[in-house]
Amino acid sequence: MRELNEQERLDALNNAIGIIRRNLPDYTYKCQDTNTNNGIYKPIDNIEWTTGFWPGELWLAYLHSEDEIFAHAAMIAVESFRERIRKHIATDHHDMGFLYTPSCVSAWMIKGDAHAREAALLAADNLVARFQEKGAFIQAWGKMGADDNYRYIIDCLLNLPLLYWAEKETGNKHYREIALRHTATCVANSFRSDFSCYHTFFMDKDTGAPRRGETCQGYKADSSWARGQAWAVYGMALSYRHTGERKYLDLFEKVSAYFMEKLPEDMIPYWDLIFTSGEEPRDSSSASIVACGFLDAADSYEKMQEYEKARKYRSEAKKLMKAIYDTCMVRSDETGINGLVKHGTYSKKSPYNTCTEAGVDECVSWGDYYWMEALMRLGGCWKSWW
Ligand code: GLY
Repeated sequence: MRELNEQERLDALNNAIGIIRRNLPDYTYKCQDTNTNNGIYKPIDNIEWTTGFWPGELWLAYLHSEDEIFAHAAMIAVESFRERIRKHIATDHHDMGFLYTPSCVSAWMIKGDAHAREAALLAADNLVARFQEKGAFIQAWGKMGADDNYRYIIDCLLNLPLLYWAEKETGNKHYREIALRHTATCVANSFRSDFSCYHTFFMDKDTGAPRRGETCQGYKADSSWARGQAWAVYGMALSYRHTGERKYLDLFEKVSAYFMEKLPEDMIPYWDLIFTSGEEPRDSSSASIVACGFLDAADSYEKMQEYEKARKYRSEAKKLMKAIYDTCMVRSDETGINGLVKHGTYSKKSPYNTCTEAGVDECVSWGDYYWMEALMRLGGCWKSWW
């Protein structure tokens, strides 16, 4: 696979911004659903774990185009996010980072908006309140302490940057301490000897000891759900950047190698990495997430003057992006589809998992967002809000 070049990067960004502009009437006063159904995102209320991604796309579109229309729409979303956290609407889960980092930390960084800052700090408090001392982890889902939900999931690594940000904003070390303790638990338990990872991990409610890995959205407990592995790649790159602990970067390399080894020739991962050929659906969003992780880590290596590694991960990111550009990117003149990237998979039912099937071989909101983030990162002047 060759690397995405600068002309293709700009073409992809302009193309994405064209689709976003066309979608503005549908999602300025409503949110975008988790995934498309037959190519179209339904407008929904602000209740899903994914609704931060569309405002994130708006901020990226604004930064690239400097067109205030995108900032205007994104600021309307900030008010919706502020109301959501103030009224605790669908906030009884850990996805505060996915929700508030691209929608509100971004708005604070770009526009200095005080409401955005307030909302993101309330979201960080909500996340910290899900920390379980017994086992030292942030409980992902459900009622706190419930027997069937005494677990964390690998995805949570992307919620933690909200806590590092909150510590910097307030000077309160507690946010960082929770992030560090959760990360330590995750690193100790979630990875197998081949550096594939479990999607979810149960802890013992009475003793806090590790109990077992399980899957929800992967094929089976001991396979590697592609997006889980992708969250681990990006999560370890971010954990390193926020802590300076070399062990996270070492783990980043190992989980990345596992991901790359399992890719089919066209470099678009199957929805679970147990599949390496055949007709199973793909999850293009995992490729975009990994590209973001590689570009983040490349910056870290560059700062340490480890130029060979920086080059390697930047090159791999550009190859993943070229694969998406060639086989998954929606063209702005395509009809009957209003997402940015095809061939994403939200949740695919298997005989061994517990998810409800949704968004198989569709556009997914985070797939669109991380594609744009990767394109902006590659441009070299985007300041991360993660
Ligand atoms: N964080 C949920 C997912 O990746 O589907």
